[in-house]
Amino acid sequence: MPTPEISTPAVEIPRNLEDAILALKKERRAVILAHYYQESEIQDLADFIGDSLELSRKATRVEEPVILFCGVHFMAETAKILNPEKRVIVPDLEAGCSLADGCPAPLFAEWLKKYPGHTVVSYINCSAAVKALSDVIVTSSSAEVILRQIPGPVVFAPDRNLAAWVERRLSRKFAVWPGTCVVHETFSEKKLVELMTRHPEAEVIAHPECEDRILALANYIGSTTALLRYVTESSSSSFIVATEEGILHQMRKAAPGKELIPAPPDEACSCNTCPHMKRNTMEKVYLALLNLAPAVEVPEAIRLRAKKPIDRMLEMTAGQTLAPALGRS
Ligand code: 13P
Ligand code: SF4
Repeated sequence: MPTPEISTPAVEIPRNLEDAILALKKERRAVILAHYYQESEIQDLADFIGDSLELSRKATRVEEPVILFCGVHFMAETAKILNPEKRVIVPDLEAGCSLADGCPAPLFAEWLKKYPGHTVVSYINCSAAVKALSDVIVTSSSAEVILRQIPGPVVFAPDRNLAAWVERRLSRKFAVWPGTCVVHETFSEKKLVELMTRHPEAEVIAHPECEDRILALANYIGSTTALLRYVTESSSSSFIVATEEGILHQMRKAAPGKELIPAPPDEACSCNTCPHMKRNTMEKVYLALLNLAPAVEVPEAIRLRAKKPIDRMLEMTAGQTLAPALGRS
């Protein structure tokens, strides 16, 4: 007998998605947290936008029972680790990250055996299972401040570019897991120099996930929030921006008269757009709120171990406004 076809009722997507999302958000008692690399319309309806540290801090102060996290998986996972009693949902469960995906926990655990006596410092762009193997978590805005507080041998994972930048800032060496971000490693030095020649008045600003040859050309280096503040506060009126292009939306809003030129990637592609971040769409935001799914879950044993290094990061950066403290090495 042929298997009967199971048909799921098609959901009608409302015409005015923004209004529909806002109404559902209220009905579901949800808060929307979004990273700066989200599509501009998602940023515009979020209750809170921030860099990874700010989003983690915000996740500790949410009152609503539902968190809709518009970012990538490790960010939503961090929110879940901090809020086990809340339902943490995402628009797309497949929105990953090349840094997190390139550092599988079993391999990482094996690699750590080579470094007994080291403090394990992991960039927040890693899985809950890797966080569970770490002593402290850092973000791009807090890495330098935290590592200044950790004397002695350090293992740093999984971003080799961020590690190299902090090493230069602190004149130290770490044992480094050699991961990279697919977006930030694609900026072309040659094309950037050409762009600088055409715009000699522009300041180059870059995220520390970029390779050293790009950072060496930058007037200012910082996390997404730090770059946003820099554009707003600097007396310059023109900037070449070497990071994911989503941040340009907030820069345009915060500094409307300023010229913002995206740094060019290596190929004729839109590689300065994170394919993971951009999996999230307004339709998926609507459906996530409608279904209260997909939900992010973390096994309790891993959650408890992963929470410790995140709490340590929050303690070690408590009360500090980190973005303006960063400067060029
Ligand atoms: P920040 O927003 O913390 O600078 O992180 C950038 C990034 O690549 C997030 O995935
Ligand atoms: Fe990961 Fe890079 Fe995308 Fe950020 S921009 S989520 S580091 S792949």
